[in-house]
Amino acid sequence: MGEIGKIVQAPEELVAPVNVPAEAYVSPEYARAEVDKLWRKVWLQAGRVEDIPEVGDFITFDIVHDSVVIVRASADDIHAFHNVCPHRGRRLVDTPPGQRNARGNRKTLICGYHGWTFGLDGANSYVEHQDDWQGHLCAGRADLGKVRVETWGGWLWITLDPEAMPLAEYLSPAATMLDPYGLQNMRPRWRKWVVFECNWKVAMEAFCETYHVSTTHPEFMEFGQFRGWARNQGLHSNIGYEAPKGQEEDSGKLRLGAGEDPRLTTADMQNFTWANANTNTTMTLVGVANRLRDELPEGTPAAEVSKYWIQTAKAEDAARGVVWAQVDPLHTAQAGTAWQIFPNFQIGHAVNNMLCYQARPYGTDPDKCIFEAAVYELWPEGQAPQTDWEYTEPADWPPVLQQDFANMAAVQQGMKNVGFRGAQPNPYMERSVASLHMNLAKFMGTGAPKTY
Ligand code: FES
Ligand SMILES: [Fe+2]
Repeated sequence: MGEIGKIVQAPEELVAPVNVPAEAYVSPEYARAEVDKLWRKVWLQAGRVEDIPEVGDFITFDIVHDSVVIVRASADDIHAFHNVCPHRGRRLVDTPPGQRNARGNRKTLICGYHGWTFGLDGANSYVEHQDDWQGHLCAGRADLGKVRVETWGGWLWITLDPEAMPLAEYLSPAATMLDPYGLQNMRPRWRKWVVFECNWKVAMEAFCETYHVSTTHPEFMEFGQFRGWARNQGLHSNIGYEAPKGQEEDSGKLRLGAGEDPRLTTADMQNFTWANANTNTTMTLVGVANRLRDELPEGTPAAEVSKYWIQTAKAEDAARGVVWAQVDPLHTAQAGTAWQIFPNFQIGHAVNNMLCYQARPYGTDPDKCIFEAAVYELWPEGQAPQTDWEYTEPADWPPVLQQDFANMAAVQQGMKNVGFRGAQPNPYMERSVASLHMNLAKFMGTGAPKTY
């Protein structure tokens, strides 16, 4: 695998223990400074390409004070604009109350205040009484302001910084490592969002490590060891599981349940995961897992159970036109199970499904965030369900996620305690926390993790 050679550990491997000051999580000044120093500088995942399939389809994406409209102008052209009317500053496209973002289809964008009208290329096409401006509405002054937009992995990415590096460079090496998974072919099974009483970093960090599994999700311990590594990857980081010896394929997400009879424990783990998390697996995998007991003799070694389970599910999916990505086991071991894309997006990838999280600030309040999660899988051509972002109260999320949520507000409260001396992430399993703060500090000029 050519790509493997590229994952040389950065000089800042972050293997040494660090202390992360609470400032980045709790300081109102820090949260306000993030607007200019962070959110207006980075590339942000702003939606899916399949959200705007037809010419004229648009979505909006908000990040603190800024809002962007992303529009499909033709089969090959996607444009993004600052969501503000150049006349007197009315937000151009309103988000319907209670919705995560606006979504629709229009031939032109018309401002609701005085009727200035814009084409899908952002150019002004109508100003009432234009002559009153005495010819001064030229040179783009009446047009929408352009925002840079690019696509990768099936997502629309925007940056508010005209000088930002190209997306491909920004996403390196995450994009190259994830390309073999064909994430652009997946479509959502569900998408949920909610407002939490914690900083966006607290929410993201609840999902970037496996250290919490044994305590926060004790039910999973029945199914095996979930010791996982974390690696710094430049701006980004990734995490993965240590594979049991001889079961390298198990280093990805498609893991067997541990225990005396892997046929039965795999079925138990799959059923439990489907019912309580509704992530990280598919109905095909669950279905085949439930037949392992009938289709394999007692005493079948774990490696063979794993192979049979995965190969059978893969063949059944192929028969209905769902073709899994083909990824070399060595690559699986390096790519791990999830990537934290700086600063606020996580992609939990697999060959046939993925689980993604994003958290954004709620205004400039350091104690609140907008949290969202989406589960994707491969569907037969034309059979993906139509989903939209559903506002979902914490109690209505899958139970395993509720267990994660239960820590969030409590962490936010704890970090404000005068006696809190800074976070001490596990240098092996929670290195993604150190990576995030090391990179944040480069943008923010403060808050760098301290070595002891
Ligand atoms: S503010 Fe948009 S037309 Fe006046
Ligand atoms: Fe968790």
